[in-house]
Amino acid sequence: MALLPIIHVPDDVLRKTAQPVQEVTAATRQLLDDMAETMYDAPGIGLAANQIGALERLIVMDCGSDEAPELWQMINPEIIWESEETTKLEEGCLSIPGHNAEVVRPSVVRARYIDIDGKTQEMEADGLLSACIQHEIDHLNGVLFIDHLSRLKKGMIWKRVLKSARG
Ligand code: NI
Repeated sequence: MALLPIIHVPDDVLRKTAQPVQEVTAATRQLLDDMAETMYDAPGIGLAANQIGALERLIVMDCGSDEAPELWQMINPEIIWESEETTKLEEGCLSIPGHNAEVVRPSVVRARYIDIDGKTQEMEADGLLSACIQHEIDHLNGVLFIDHLSRLKKGMIWKRVLKSARG
């Protein structure tokens, strides 16, 4: 396993669309394991492949506790159903360090994905895991959590992001 450098805004790779994985190989599993190690080391609760510069549809998440970790490693994840009810939760992002904001998203979602054994699976998520999977799949489509904020709030965060990127 290896730690991978996490890419920060305003890098363009965070705005690109990741491509579907055609075949689950040893390299796919290795990348998912490296992503998990990188996420735990950060520490964070989710990481998408764009964030380590790979434009493949891969995400890892763990919204469990230290005592009861719950690692998800997903290939080609997609939301297949979402509730009309919404929930507002505070989010941050390893690619936008130091900036958190409340984001409104569907409360419950169902997702379809391929697991590391190459099997198609479905799962339902609510609470933090629901926000997390929506946030990570957004990354695969080049979308960041700040895109869900008002123009004013996003503008304030973006101004500070660009300022700190310039140093
Ligand atoms: Ni993120």
